[in-house]
Amino acid sequence: MSEKMRTLTEPFKIKVVEPLRVTTEEYRKKVLQEAGYNTFLLHSKDVFIDLLTDSGTGAMSDKQWAGIMVGDESYAGAKSWENLDAVVKELTGMPYVLPTHQGRAAERILYGILGGKGKVFISNTHFDTTRANIEFTGATAIDIINEEAEDTEVDLPFKGNIDIEKLEELIAQYGKENVAAIIITVTNNSSGGQPVSMANVEALRKVCNTHQIPMVIDGCRIAENAYFIKHREKGFENKTCQDIAKQMLRLGDAFVMSAKKDGMVNMGGLLTVKDEELSVKCKNLLIISEGFTTYGGLAGRDMEALAIGLTEVFDEDYLHYRIRSTAYLGEKLRAKGVPVVWPIGGHAVYIDAKKLYSHIPLHEYPGQALVCDLYIKGGIRTAEIGSLMFGKYDEQGKLIPATNELVRLAIPRRVYTQSHIDYVLDIFDDILELKNQKRGYRITYEPPFLRHFTARLEKID
Ligand code: F0G
Repeated sequence: MSEKMRTLTEPFKIKVVEPLRVTTEEYRKKVLQEAGYNTFLLHSKDVFIDLLTDSGTGAMSDKQWAGIMVGDESYAGAKSWENLDAVVKELTGMPYVLPTHQGRAAERILYGILGGKGKVFISNTHFDTTRANIEFTGATAIDIINEEAEDTEVDLPFKGNIDIEKLEELIAQYGKENVAAIIITVTNNSSGGQPVSMANVEALRKVCNTHQIPMVIDGCRIAENAYFIKHREKGFENKTCQDIAKQMLRLGDAFVMSAKKDGMVNMGGLLTVKDEELSVKCKNLLIISEGFTTYGGLAGRDMEALAIGLTEVFDEDYLHYRIRSTAYLGEKLRAKGVPVVWPIGGHAVYIDAKKLYSHIPLHEYPGQALVCDLYIKGGIRTAEIGSLMFGKYDEQGKLIPATNELVRLAIPRRVYTQSHIDYVLDIFDDILELKNQKRGYRITYEPPFLRHFTARLEKID
């Protein structure tokens, strides 16, 4: 694809379509109220553009659908497993590959073995399910993102990097024998889909070698991360994204992947390890909780589609379109005056609702207010990553707000066209025009854990 091309075009044409239903604002107001102003509780038939997540929401290619037809459903030693095993071994360079039903199953198995009371895991940022699986074993999870990356506006190429200096301090503080693993999440979902540089992972490898601590790569967006390295890190300009990903994965001792992202499938996960003894322990847990070692939590057809998806995701035209189309939305929003996390990450655009809705106090959830407005105005479903998701209460029942009040517009892979994204941009004009009239929300029901999924709210008039 020519770099000079002005209009960013999708490098595919559409063979199967799924109709979208256009609803009225009146209707959306009604159904959102019925859903307790929680977009997780909406029916997808009532959503026009669904930017809730990029996980499992991508479109498969014709080759992947053809793979579905030839999937081998044998319980043991299926051909589809052999295909997947070969692709993953080639990608990671790791000899032991375990298929799981999704990313968190791989996490549960690996961290269930490495974790336990008194153990510490250190990461650039643990994704919620990663943290939950670690804490469930009684271990502690500590995030050490580079300090400069905490500024949501500073323009740096690798804001996903782990802070190596702080890492050394923490290892000294806790004692290397208590550090169960260092987890590097690429790209770093929880900090805006920001990439991690090869230099940072190499430096991390050295620290892990010195202290004999295992290094885990959470690489569900490894291809997107490789694209950023190719375009931002010196010395990688002439390498393919696939070779960059291979180089990075060879630095790890284990790899966990939610295949629902860069695996380009709707369901699936992977766990790969270098160490034989660890692989035996993992396989035992896999058999108890997921399935036999040659299918784990997956059907043969799923493994066939994943083997193809893991190859397609490294197509240079696809990756260029993927990263540039996410940036297209983010850059246009920024030009309109919408405060966005900068630079734009790989899979999503994050809006700073604390800045956009600065008139709404934090205990009235400005992020959720924006999520509701985007749905009411345009039928656009997004997710709050702020005090509704991470807020806690003090002893007086007062909200301790989250660090940021973000709204994530996650882009499904190969699903929406540029005109869908232009529509989203148009809706932001309405939001900006009326923003000072927007009001906050209060919670009327919340469960004890992960409240954002099922909480109910009401509008403050
Ligand atoms: N690690 C990262 C970095 C993730 O982003 C996710 C999922 C997981 C692990 C867990 O994988 O869902 O297959 O069990 N992220 C999704 C999201 C849910 O919307 O960002 P899973």
